[in-house]
Amino acid sequence: MLMDILTSSPALDEELIKPENWAKEQWIHSQLEWLRKHDPLRQIEPNGFDPFWNATKYHDIKEIEQNKSIFINDPRPVLGPKMTDAFVQQLAGRKHLVRSLVQMDDPDHMKYRRLTQGWFMGTNLRKLESNIESLAEEYIEKLANLGGECDFVKDLAIWYPLRVIMTILGIPKEDEPLMLKLTQELFGSTDPDNARSFEPMEIMNVVGDFETYFNELSKERRKSPTDDLASLIANAKIDDKTPPDLETNGYYMIVATAGHDTTSSSVAGGLLALIENPDQHEKLRNDTDQMMPTFIDEAIRWVTPVRHFMRTATQDYVIRDTKIKEGESVILWYPSANRDEEVFDEPFEFKVDRKDAKQLAFGFGAHVCLGQHLARMEMSILFKKLFKRLEHIELAGEPQYTQSTFVGGLKSLPIRYKMK
Ligand code: HEM
Repeated sequence: MLMDILTSSPALDEELIKPENWAKEQWIHSQLEWLRKHDPLRQIEPNGFDPFWNATKYHDIKEIEQNKSIFINDPRPVLGPKMTDAFVQQLAGRKHLVRSLVQMDDPDHMKYRRLTQGWFMGTNLRKLESNIESLAEEYIEKLANLGGECDFVKDLAIWYPLRVIMTILGIPKEDEPLMLKLTQELFGSTDPDNARSFEPMEIMNVVGDFETYFNELSKERRKSPTDDLASLIANAKIDDKTPPDLETNGYYMIVATAGHDTTSSSVAGGLLALIENPDQHEKLRNDTDQMMPTFIDEAIRWVTPVRHFMRTATQDYVIRDTKIKEGESVILWYPSANRDEEVFDEPFEFKVDRKDAKQLAFGFGAHVCLGQHLARMEMSILFKKLFKRLEHIELAGEPQYTQSTFVGGLKSLPIRYKMK
């Protein structure tokens, strides 16, 4: 699939971190393929950014993630431009704009993660199952009522996972559009369709709006706790004390944002892969129950909606004969890990029964996605119900992808279909 490869540094380095290039799926994968083969771990310094190492190989990314005391999340968990003086001033003494699980390391990370971990594990998930089934049915019915043509992302894929996570959190249905808008402004702050504006300081206003909403939520749930996740977060104690607002709001924010855009991208990307690979679609439809788990993981591998996280070294560390020095940061490109030809057999083929390796889209180690089992369950319930009713499906227009180096995937998927 090689095409239009920018081999020279810094041309490739500059292009790699441009959000608009991440909307060109094939193009970006070609560059990553070239990097894996020829320069899998190179230090880069794109204009306006502090330098960082570019990790593109599956095993390197896994090794870095499993060494949580050597490679930590704070102070640079995600890629952002160099801080301007104006930004530092605006932070007004705050070290972090947001402090959630992804900005934390041990001992805090472990203490905060433990608070909600049980909510996203086996027994509790099984309790949520029938509720999620009803939500899935509601959305399949909506699809049927749309009359055979729709934008699968805008009409279904973004709403269903949003509804699931907001129900768990305890956010009322009427506030879901606000949560969606703020999430898209936060994750898609570089996409013209999702950004509030391209003014870099605007991100502070987005976070400010989240905080205003969540401060109210904390007040309510402290006064009248219910059995939802927001009540647990609002009334949590860390070392016998109520955590500061920065951490409490960070907790709501990570659960409210990480839980839906990622899953909707995987649902939509999985459906597109089936449309584009009719043989795989047929294979899956002939043995849906048996093949559902491998199909779901293949859809998530295929899409890999979280494009990166970062780590910073606390001491010198040698990987692939290269020394990463104390204080240097590394970007972990998950979509590249998930197309690594050393690990996956024919990585550019979509195979509903793929069993060769465990995909890395949920990350690995201490920060591995808290909602991975929930995401798999939601997807599996939806696709099973969809297949029971769907008789025919085809593309009805050009799919469009989000312009973001962080979280992304399809933002539009026009389809034509026939349902029972
Ligand atoms: C297909 C869907 C999803 C994908 C691909 C995904 C991916 C990821 C990735 C890559 C990370 C960082 C892992 C690392 O640093 O090693 C992460 C963390 C996280 N995810 Fe997900 N996620 C998905 C769905 C969800 C859902 C449904 C929730 C529900 C609450 C969720 C909640 C979280 C949280 C709270 C973290 C932070 C964990 C920590 O830092 O300890 N995610 N996710």
